[in-house]
Amino acid sequence: MERIISPSMLSADFGNLERDTRMIDRSSAEWVHIDVMDGVFVPNISFGFPVMKPIRQATGKFLDVHLMIVEPMKYAGRFAEAGADLVTIHYEAVDDAAGALRQIRSYGIRSGISVKPATPVSVLEGLLEFADLVLIMSVEPGFGGQSFIEGSLEKVAELRRMIDAVGTGTLIEIDGGISSENSGEVFAAGCNVLVAGSAVFGAADPEAEIVKMLRSAP
Ligand code: DX5
Ligand code: ZN
Repeated sequence: MERIISPSMLSADFGNLERDTRMIDRSSAEWVHIDVMDGVFVPNISFGFPVMKPIRQATGKFLDVHLMIVEPMKYAGRFAEAGADLVTIHYEAVDDAAGALRQIRSYGIRSGISVKPATPVSVLEGLLEFADLVLIMSVEPGFGGQSFIEGSLEKVAELRRMIDAVGTGTLIEIDGGISSENSGEVFAAGCNVLVAGSAVFGAADPEAEIVKMLRSAP
């Protein structure tokens, strides 16, 4: 199965955003993860469009935008215009998830849906045909640097069985507490895309940490 690393810019040095984005651009990471928080859906505020712009200008890589905001469909189109290749909304933030995912695809980009740690993956049944990606949160959304919640791997394995049964090819991404210490078992459980913030930007050699995650065995 393909392995992709999506470094989270939330842990980058915002005083040196262009430098850090170019470093990821040179690395073996294929995606760049952008965490947007509104202080309502999660108890933290990160950044929005003005910060997406310099990131988009400094890399041609796949921009993976994770919206941790209420009423995400008010803004999903603007994130597509700002250069997002994929917009992920939270299941808990919308009333009509299928409609929201369809609308994201109508912008000509890929659609993603995320579930918080307490939301079971069974809610995604019936939605997989509209989703290019499911993002399993392995920490409570809101902050980088938290510890991986162990039960998350069972959710990944269950979701892997659901996706393989319907044959939609939906990618599984995981976000929170990922490093080269656990990446091998996380890939082995059926994930395709690993988000990593503090493990990448906190490493003495971020590019080497990315390679280590890509090559890790369970
Ligand atoms: C948390 C964000 C994550 C965060 C991950 O709400 O969605 O993407 O940046 O950070 P680490 O990898 O440090 O757990
Ligand atoms: Zn995220």
